[in-house]
Amino acid sequence: AAAMPIISSPDTMRALEAAAHELVHNLQPVAFPTETVYGLGALALNVSATERIFSIKGRPADNPLIVHVSSFPMLHTLLPKDYVAPPAYTALMKHFWPGALTLLFPRDPAIVPALITAHQPTVAIRMPSHPVARALIAVADAPLAAPSANSSGKPSPTRAEHVRRDLDGKVGLILDGGACGVGLESTVVDGLHADGDIRVLRPGGITVEAIERVLREELGSSERIPQVLVHRRDYRDAAMEAAPTTPGMKYRHYSPAVPVYLLYTSSPPPVGSETLDADVFFASLRATGDAKPVKIGILAPNDSTLGTCDLPADGLDWTRFLLGPTAEPSVTAHLLFDGLLTLEQQGVDLILIEEVQEEQEGLAVMNRVKKAAGECRWIRFNKSG
Ligand code: TXA
Ligand code: MG
Repeated sequence: AAAMPIISSPDTMRALEAAAHELVHNLQPVAFPTETVYGLGALALNVSATERIFSIKGRPADNPLIVHVSSFPMLHTLLPKDYVAPPAYTALMKHFWPGALTLLFPRDPAIVPALITAHQPTVAIRMPSHPVARALIAVADAPLAAPSANSSGKPSPTRAEHVRRDLDGKVGLILDGGACGVGLESTVVDGLHADGDIRVLRPGGITVEAIERVLREELGSSERIPQVLVHRRDYRDAAMEAAPTTPGMKYRHYSPAVPVYLLYTSSPPPVGSETLDADVFFASLRATGDAKPVKIGILAPNDSTLGTCDLPADGLDWTRFLLGPTAEPSVTAHLLFDGLLTLEQQGVDLILIEEVQEEQEGLAVMNRVKKAAGECRWIRFNKSG
């Protein structure tokens, strides 16, 4: 079970009390750190408080919010009376809560306002592990609805400074807890279907591999171990594609103000994407410069093709932001949004991101990168030789 975080500094306590006052008495959203990304929190069960989240972010009303709790008793106040969670949920909560895993639960209309869930029959709930997030919810003594603390469509913030740049003047208070450890949002999971399987609606900080391992370990002796269904190159679920199960995923997302290109350097790119040799591609970028050098940001692992290749200087001005070793996808996850926002801040004209393997945290990284890049900007990069 989740222990209460201990707050030792009086300054921290004062900041938390000020934030809780803003939430509870003024019904104003507050930005706060979680272990995944910064959140923009408001009282989940208060309709005018949560309406402010939608208006600050410019968020479409049909995209539901995640409710954050600091304890299991608080979780139970949100659920239908006498609700019993499926065995898979019990296993997942035991291993991953508090942490970067969000679970869908049935929504009791008498408890959870329809505004938060965009009229879905389910409510998404998670228990964050970041001590500041947990303490804020505990001091406010109420569940907080919190999307990522960015304008709708922008990359999620992983530092207080990112929030300030994006939402300056729109939020009254930002709690600064330093850089977020995970760096990508939580994994959103739906285990409420009759087949008992676990549908990953959004890959995130908790990997599919870790979820599969826990289900095997905890439910190995039961009749059937639930399958983990997730969109990957090798799997598509027709029902998942047809139904608007993750309303959030249909919108353009994670996009900085400048164009983003996803470059495939080893695996086959999706059907319909352009295939260009490196020198042809660079020449085409140079041509967009209007006599000025084109400023290009690169996001790539340290030891990858774009992380290590020589870059042509003539007419092109490069900034490389390295995403850690290819063998450590958690480091890439930690740095991805920071890299996008840092390159944007440095005033590059466009950003090139190199593909990573869709394994472990790499699956969530590629999910975000594809959305940032948009379908028409996937390019195969052939090293010229
Ligand atoms: O790590 C995170 O989850 C962060 C931090 C702040 O906790 N929050 C976050 O919230 O990423 P947001 O609003 O940016 O993303 C929530 C995602 C959206 O894709 C939304 O569509 C989905 O969760 N979601 C929320 N409620 C849902 C529901 N009832 N059914 C299906 N999807 C839901
Ligand atoms: Mg978001």
